[in-house]
Amino acid sequence: MSQNRVYIKDLKGHSGNEVVIKGWVDVRRDQGKLIFFDFRDMTGKVQGVILPNATDAHAVGSTTRPEWVVEVHGKVNPRPERNVQADKQNGDIELEILGMKILNEAETPAFDIHADTREVSEEVRLKYRYVDLRGERLQKNIRNRAKIMQYVRNFLTAIDFTEIETPILTKSTPEGARDYVVPSRISSGLFYALPQSPQQYKQMLMSAGMERYFQFAKCMRDEDTRGDRQPEFTQLDMELSFATEEDIMNVTEKLLIEIVEKLYPHKRIQQIPFPRIPYKEAMEKYQIDRPDIREDKEDPNLLAFCWVVDFPFFEKNEKGAGGVGQNGEGGGTSAWTFTHNPFSGTKAEHFDKLMAGNAEDKDLDTIIASQYDIVLNGYEIGGGSVRNHRADALMKVFEIMGYPQETVEKNFAHMLHALRSGTPPHGGIAWGFDRLMMILENEPNIREVIAFPKTGEGRDPMMESPSEISRTQLKELGISVNK
Ligand code: AMO
Repeated sequence: MSQNRVYIKDLKGHSGNEVVIKGWVDVRRDQGKLIFFDFRDMTGKVQGVILPNATDAHAVGSTTRPEWVVEVHGKVNPRPERNVQADKQNGDIELEILGMKILNEAETPAFDIHADTREVSEEVRLKYRYVDLRGERLQKNIRNRAKIMQYVRNFLTAIDFTEIETPILTKSTPEGARDYVVPSRISSGLFYALPQSPQQYKQMLMSAGMERYFQFAKCMRDEDTRGDRQPEFTQLDMELSFATEEDIMNVTEKLLIEIVEKLYPHKRIQQIPFPRIPYKEAMEKYQIDRPDIREDKEDPNLLAFCWVVDFPFFEKNEKGAGGVGQNGEGGGTSAWTFTHNPFSGTKAEHFDKLMAGNAEDKDLDTIIASQYDIVLNGYEIGGGSVRNHRADALMKVFEIMGYPQETVEKNFAHMLHALRSGTPPHGGIAWGFDRLMMILENEPNIREVIAFPKTGEGRDPMMESPSEISRTQLKELGISVNK
């Protein structure tokens, strides 16, 4: 068996020849004299048969079970006309098995990977995620995810974007959710935070003259998990210098249209250009800021994109303290808070109103932000804004939210310095990449398009995380745990 391995998808081209394939026993049907198999590799499936005269192969083949890993030596035979299954991959050929070698045995899987594993309990599926991932549907989802990532990389790189990684060990950022924190050993008693998004870094990259940045960014938010929310998720994050709202929306729209046309040609986009719905209209007409505008909700291949625009910059603060203080420090004390994040700018015509504003004003909710959300079939799949690139304007936003100047200077010194250092006007967007994949793959849940997702309670049953750490580790970190 020293022959080169042939991928199962290429077997057709070897009709009449002897080949070697490697893969998994997908199905075995032992009929005594004849043993039938379906074999599987990453490229597909093929049927094989051990005839009674292949005695050695027969001896090995009769011991194998589904999910065993095998190397098979066989002859590619055309199937007789009456046995051809035209609708099936390799439905017109069959592998006559001449030799079989077991590369690894397998315990009986915890569930049948041929059935719809969405029916299996989440705990069990995620514990054996590597088995779950062998199924056809998840293989397709994960491979298509990679294809889209590649498509995005090529598209953006061709129009002068640079892919840049930003740190995972960072500092609390004011994005509305709780941070995951990481204790520092060297700086005992101090903590990093995992990024909720690369927002501040990507703005720094604009200060740094990169002009066009993108990244597939891991984002971590300690919030309750739902079908379209994971504690750890992926954004396609972009930022552009000297760009208007129109420029940023156009890049997003063109890229989304190309992805659908090139990679999901059987799907139909309801309306191009994507309709734009002002926030106020969305709330009045649909009572939601992410309307599902599909003409036909039964059609699984209909994609109704829309933009929601013209968000108010400030809203009345229901909690009585600004969102920035979610780490418990320096929260705003005013009646107003931001609707999206403090770094957004206003519409040009509302800039003067912002700069003249103060927390006592009653009509600050009439200031419109230069902010947009992209919505698909009722899901918010992305959002962004043209930013406040002036330090005095950012200070003004915090002032309106009731932050003492020292607090802002302390928490956002890096941002303020950067803005004062010669930062061009800039803006960007972040797509919720998992949500987009979920909809393109007609999945009900983003866990179906993430290789190793977490449960509803934020656990990973396979790795058994989160987990305790050793007393030595705790001691090194200077941490004691109150149970
Ligand atoms: P935002 O917080 O709106 O904006 O996030 C951008 C997009 O990310 C997706 N998303 C999530 N997906 C899965 N699980 C989650 N927990 C989760 N949270 C958000 C959504 C959302 O539209 N820095 C800004 C972007 C910018 O202004 O450029 C930001 O993070 O699809």
